[in-house]
Amino acid sequence: MKAPTREELAQSGTLEELYAKLEKVAMGPGWNKPTPSLWASPRKTFQPGHWRYEQARGALDAAGRLINTELAERRNLILVNPAEGNTYGTVRTIVAAYQMIMPGEWARAHRHTPNALRLILDAEPGTYTVVDGVNIAMEPGDVLLTPNWSTHGHGNNSKACAYWLDFLDAPLVQLLEPMFFEPYEDDDASHAAFEPEPPAATTDSPFVFTLAETRRRLAAAPATPEAPFGTAIELGSPALDTIALHMMSLKPGVRTQEHRSTANNIYAVVRGTGVTSVDGESFAWRRGDVIAAPAWRPHTHEATSDALVFRVTDEPVLHKLGFFRTP
Ligand SMILES: [Fe+2]
Repeated sequence: MKAPTREELAQSGTLEELYAKLEKVAMGPGWNKPTPSLWASPRKTFQPGHWRYEQARGALDAAGRLINTELAERRNLILVNPAEGNTYGTVRTIVAAYQMIMPGEWARAHRHTPNALRLILDAEPGTYTVVDGVNIAMEPGDVLLTPNWSTHGHGNNSKACAYWLDFLDAPLVQLLEPMFFEPYEDDDASHAAFEPEPPAATTDSPFVFTLAETRRRLAAAPATPEAPFGTAIELGSPALDTIALHMMSLKPGVRTQEHRSTANNIYAVVRGTGVTSVDGESFAWRRGDVIAAPAWRPHTHEATSDALVFRVTDEPVLHKLGFFRTP
């Protein structure tokens, strides 16, 4: 049907008649919205959550039998927040995933605008990531960056399956829409060049924070066990344009001060055991587990054994846009 003219709109006799005509010109009456567009303080859309490495290991081992890296760009398990309507993000801006690569496999190289990083959980020497042509070793507790548009592929020349946690700002990129992705055209050639053994991997790269260096820095940091993140150091400043990374050392039996901000936080356990309480829900974690503390959810941590916890947060985004707040 033809769009109503100025006169036809002006002559609307009732609100219902006006609303019907407005629909045809893709306008909506701001005084009659089905849902409010502003609210007094952040809504609790995304839920606190806990994902267990033990369960992921079982599922990845099955996927190892059922899916090979020829079929899948990556063999990974996405940690989907159970928020209503959500099908991807772990929190609003960041997605976390467990990934596994089997001995002798190569997860082919590609690049994309989403910033990515990974925390290595279990890997034997011989597991590596190539970032922009540089071969970087992946060892447990290491954090490896692949920033926006860097080409990266993963290889495993060890005898054991390698497991890690990926974190990407892909949900944010989906929201803002500057998404670009491309496979690396010379992937076969570049990978073939590594047969049968890739060149020695380095740990001397701006793209990796090794656990050894992280431990050394933590040991030298002033002890603040009761601070909201325990005794913590930052990896990078920030590590990526959209994501800041911190390693937290938690002392057993000490409850950290409550933290609440407009930023999202995801915690991943490098070692130890403990409990994180997020907005009234308590999650007892162990090595490799992941906890989501979405924006504006107050939370605290308490280790039950010496613990190292990795914090992934979108604070840089909130700061850059002027939206970072605490109560
Ligand atoms: Fe990737």
